[in-house]
Amino acid sequence: MIFAANLKCNHTRSSFELYAQELNQKLNQEDEVFIFPPNVAFLKNNFIFQQGAQNFYPCENGAYTGEIGRIHLEEFNIKSVLIGHSERRSLNEDESFLKAKFDFAKTLDFNIIYCIGESLETKNSKQSLDFLKKQIGNIDLTYEKLIIAYEPIYSIGTRVSADLDDINTVLDFLRQSTQAKLLYGGSVNQNNIKAICALKNCDGVLVGSAALKADEFFNMIQIAKG
Ligand code: 13P
Repeated sequence: MIFAANLKCNHTRSSFELYAQELNQKLNQEDEVFIFPPNVAFLKNNFIFQQGAQNFYPCENGAYTGEIGRIHLEEFNIKSVLIGHSERRSLNEDESFLKAKFDFAKTLDFNIIYCIGESLETKNSKQSLDFLKKQIGNIDLTYEKLIIAYEPIYSIGTRVSADLDDINTVLDFLRQSTQAKLLYGGSVNQNNIKAICALKNCDGVLVGSAALKADEFFNMIQIAKG
């Protein structure tokens, strides 16, 4: 199972330092855990979990005001990235830019958690699978370090995860196109993580708000495993 936490625009470097130390003490070596802090909170320590970047620009370095490139990730030994999160797509990251990010991260041999997900409107018009098929049509589905996170937009930050049946249908559908690990994200919490992780094609979860405290995220991992 993969347990990933997207801390979004939360935690400073000093608060993330405490978070990372606490989680690191509790985790076992066999847990596959990714934590995505804000870029300014990256730490240089080695942890049991993988530290990843929520965002980067597909460049080494250069005249890209406000962005970070490969050399900045390298300084913190970052080898995992999130791409395609709906919160970044809504900031005008379009398919061609997402492909450029994907291709760049692939050449660096990074772990890529590629996020996809439809709106409630798309779901209600029964277009979900067609929509998701287009979103994954943009990337190399055979890349061996690819992880796909299915995060329906209508379940993010709402405290109500998608229906298990709907998650199951989508994960089964994705499995027909790729052998990549498949995660679910969207209001995953201590109450629903076990049932979500038990779905046949679910290889783990991508957690937002319920992972903001290290002890609570660790408890979720224990619940999912137990
Ligand atoms: P929440 O768990 O807060 O709904 O966020 C999910 C998410 O967007 C993870 O990337």
